[in-house]
Amino acid sequence: MLIGQDNHEGQKNTMTDPMTILGIESSCDDTAAAVVRSSDGHAQVLSSVVIGQEELHAAYGGVVPEIAARAHAEQLDIAVERALKVAQIDLVDVDAIAVTAGPGLIGGVVSGVMCAKGLSAGSGKPLIGVNHLAGHALTPRMTDAVEYPYLMLLVSGGHCQFLAVLSETDFRRIGGTIDDAPGEAFDKTAKLLGLGYPGGPLVEQAAVNGDETRFKLPRPLLDRPDCNMSFSGLKTALRRARDLLIAKQGGISKQDQNDLCASFQLAVADTLAEKTRRAIIAFSEIADGKTLAVAGGVAANQLIGQKLRDTAHNQSFEFIAPPLKYCTDNAAMIAWAGLEQFAKGARDDMTLAARPRWPLDNTAQPMLGSGKKGAKA
Ligand code: KG4
Ligand code: ZN
Repeated sequence: MLIGQDNHEGQKNTMTDPMTILGIESSCDDTAAAVVRSSDGHAQVLSSVVIGQEELHAAYGGVVPEIAARAHAEQLDIAVERALKVAQIDLVDVDAIAVTAGPGLIGGVVSGVMCAKGLSAGSGKPLIGVNHLAGHALTPRMTDAVEYPYLMLLVSGGHCQFLAVLSETDFRRIGGTIDDAPGEAFDKTAKLLGLGYPGGPLVEQAAVNGDETRFKLPRPLLDRPDCNMSFSGLKTALRRARDLLIAKQGGISKQDQNDLCASFQLAVADTLAEKTRRAIIAFSEIADGKTLAVAGGVAANQLIGQKLRDTAHNQSFEFIAPPLKYCTDNAAMIAWAGLEQFAKGARDDMTLAARPRWPLDNTAQPMLGSGKKGAKA
């Protein structure tokens, strides 16, 4: 059970006390606000509003930071107002305001932090800056009441890492991508094949009618014993396979497209599954949990989900995949992470800074590269 701490009014907060937190998220291409309440340590999402920007970025095949920042600035107030309305509460009813303070695209993060500071100053409610990755990593506690410690695989458009989640502030990175995130690779594959954006769901759809054995694409870094991954070479291999077809046939057919998608998807799934097998072994050396949880948009992929589930079960681990709406970017996860940290006494003030990079595990070696969709912290 969590230990009580003094809050700003000198009262005690514990995870068993009812608590209501407003969460705000704007670190990539979703403007989100949510209200989450906990009582007896159980979460209830009273509202979760996500205003996506997909149509604004679709023509570019990826997120354009300047366009994203402007859209966040325009939509944040609307998202907050809607979240409070759906939750049927006023700002005076919340105990604190939690906001993503990084890592992510800086323009969006600044917009969110400024909005939260304004609300905090106006209402006198405490402010908590939340790490976006902590939001993802703690989601299984909100949705499935998973106990610490557990292993988390975060796979999204901007991130890919294994985390040992030991407490609401103690995360150990066991491995991660050294270049692209898998979602980014799915998006680039879709772009190379002219499928559209965001690429993940479109590649998965095309793969249904494809032959996954036709193209022998690499399983990067499987020759290395650690839990690090690389997906940029896979994308290059896919481009080469496409270009060879074009050189030979003058173009690619629908079947070629489907086969390329299926072969690519299998390569990502195999790589993630094998690295997950190793991450479970590494996790078991530092903690005694028996749960593997996933978060991030790529977790929506059926084949990847199935392979991760099998991998977990083969090692007697439970597999938790929170509902997709809480796996992808949302503000409920930020409210929940804020809630857990608030209960332990976390408070920020008007000096809270927006951070483009903010590794969860300060002791881990920094990873290489910086993704198009934000920092690979
Ligand atoms: O977590 P998310 O919504 O946003 C962040 O990147 O933070 O993840 C979006 C990513 C995109 O790159 C998208 O192509 C990928 O998740 N994605 C998928 C699928 N659905 C979304 N990748 C593979 N298969 C899917 N079904
Ligand atoms: Zn995210």
